[in-house]
Amino acid sequence: MERTLSIIKPDGVQRNLIGEVVKRFEKAGIRIAAMKMLRLTKQQAMGFYKVHQERPFFESLTDFMSSGPVVVMVLEGGDVIQKNRDLMGATNYKEAAEGTIRHDFATDIEKNVVHGSDSPATAATEIAYFFSELEICR
Ligand code: CDP
Ligand code: MG
Repeated sequence: MERTLSIIKPDGVQRNLIGEVVKRFEKAGIRIAAMKMLRLTKQQAMGFYKVHQERPFFESLTDFMSSGPVVVMVLEGGDVIQKNRDLMGATNYKEAAEGTIRHDFATDIEKNVVHGSDSPATAATEIAYFFSELEICR
């Protein structure tokens, strides 16, 4: 069993896409092991995305990520890191495959509805950023 962190970004929450995203995870056989809604401060968004701090989009991305509530989830299942990335689609929605969340709902390279961890190491760090072990249901 593998775990990954998923975030429904502020654009997804604002556009009433929580149910749609969760439905896609459940239909794919992914188990939701933890879930909560919160609003990141600018500092917390900067901490979460610190791997991107030198990138030109960092300032705008962290403004966006702290602009409204997000839904954070721990997803669990076999090969769930890759499975979630496949359901999400490419970072740039214009390159995302048909039927992926970003293809179907993203409006911008930045406002692309969902986040998903990209490796076991980042999944562990990102899950710990939001959840204590006690908050994750076995
Ligand atoms: O989210 P993902 O792992 O697919 O992409 P990333 O390369 O880790 O970038 C993190 C986030 O930064 C993306 O999901 C976009 O919201 C944003 N981004 C952007 O605004 N402009 C770019 N050229 C690349 C990423
Ligand atoms: Mg990434």
